Amino acid sequence: MTCVVVVGSGIAGLTAALHAAENGCRVTVVTKGALPDTNTRWAQGGIAAVTHPADTVASHAADTITAGAGLNDPAAVDVLVGEGPARITELIARGVAFDRTADGEFSRGLEAAHAVPRVLHAGGDATGAEIQAALGAAVRAAGIVVLEHAVLRDLRLANGRIAGIELDDGERIDADAVILATGGAGQLYAHTTNPAGATGDGIAAALRAGAAVADLEFVQFHPTALAVGAPFLVSEAVRGEGAVLVDDAGRRFAFDAHPDGELAPRDVVARANARAMATQDGHPVRLDATALGAERLARRFPTIDAAVRERGLDWAREPIPVTPAAHYLMGGVVTDLDGRTTVPGLYAVGETARTGVHGANRLASNSLLEGAVFGARAGEAVARDGDWPVRPETRRRVVAAQPATDAPPFSRHALQQLMWAEAGLVRDADGLAHAAAVLASWSADPSPRTTEERNLLLVASHVVSAALARSGSVGAHFRSDAPDVAAPPLPHLAATAPADGDGPVLASIPASPEALAC
Ligand code: SIN
Repeated sequence: MTCVVVVGSGIAGLTAALHAAENGCRVTVVTKGALPDTNTRWAQGGIAAVTHPADTVASHAADTITAGAGLNDPAAVDVLVGEGPARITELIARGVAFDRTADGEFSRGLEAAHAVPRVLHAGGDATGAEIQAALGAAVRAAGIVVLEHAVLRDLRLANGRIAGIELDDGERIDADAVILATGGAGQLYAHTTNPAGATGDGIAAALRAGAAVADLEFVQFHPTALAVGAPFLVSEAVRGEGAVLVDDAGRRFAFDAHPDGELAPRDVVARANARAMATQDGHPVRLDATALGAERLARRFPTIDAAVRERGLDWAREPIPVTPAAHYLMGGVVTDLDGRTTVPGLYAVGETARTGVHGANRLASNSLLEGAVFGARAGEAVARDGDWPVRPETRRRVVAAQPATDAPPFSRHALQQLMWAEAGLVRDADGLAHAAAVLASWSADPSPRTTEERNLLLVASHVVSAALARSGSVGAHFRSDAPDVAAPPLPHLAATAPADGDGPVLASIPASPEALAC
């Protein structure tokens, strides 16, 4: 029986775990918080899929590729949109109650860059929470072992293939295969919609194990996080329902940037917000949802409504302050269409993976769908694969930057400020080179770091290195020193661990007799 460890417990991880178990694998889910402490739980807008006869998979594919600036892998997009409807049916069978209209039809929301309303939601704006609860219950009911509050320190390799994982407390778990589903790395940035655990753990562990990563320069910034109190996502669905963005003078500015105004692709709206903020001394822009009325706001967006009111704001009466925030990482661990990475026995799914489906920018509400579709495929592949051939060494190492002599002391906060200033919505060569030098200096410092700090530092170095290498602007990667220059013909920058230092840590450690079997 194939023994599989799934690291991470969001929609991608739990879907993979369920499919692997249903196909005969013995599965252990390892997660660093409690089972429901995931990015998925915070997803508001919904899950995009073709569920109406007037909609087509060709239209969903075209929207996905337009949002991705054409850098998407067309085969991955076909899989995503083609298998989407079946995964919606599966989610319903597992207990997700998507919102419906009075006549029993799905209630479909419109979000930016979608040609038609196709975004299903549950509990109004609690789609992720509903999915998380249903999948968590299904995993418990299936008897899958769940190890909570267990932090992945590293992958373990034996003879060039996966042998299991090691946890922060030193415990080892043997496995034939590991599926990484640890989400993204929003915590690289000072402002993010992601929870505190989004520290790029899977990507960093995969890098240390020698796996290829790609597209890390493509970080999506959401245009509208609440700018009062802790950052909190205000779903694009609010703009889909008619809310508009205004500056300090009350002027709608989004149409200056794009004919679709507030519903233009996310990177366009996020940069329009940032530009408007720059012209008003950094004050947040405002999201005016007053036209929707108190009753509709509370019914359609109960989670956001509560968060807004907790901050002492009444969005039914006055526009609320919003700011862009890091939201999603399009790049990640390179996989094929079944989640296989370049390391035998290692799989990656969801935001941790780079399937090529998102290109240079993700279409709204395609992320839950990606987790469901590619989680299912990886779970089935891992049960089928059985034998993982060792591939020839193909890694390309990243050239390390010269350490800066004037780097401030390392802290998570300092790293987040650096990334926000130099590798955020708008980048240029000088700022990126400075960031690379500071990161190199922190990386060379032997002071002890937590696993999360070590992961953030490694992933940050790769984001900056990829952003430096892509000298033109495309999708979410905007270079102010080359705003109109098409990106060079490097559709997908792949890299593995840096040239020195943080190499594959546990390579060639054989499975230990005292390790737990999964
Ligand atoms: C949102 O609700 O605006 C976020 C949904 C997404 O990131 O796809």
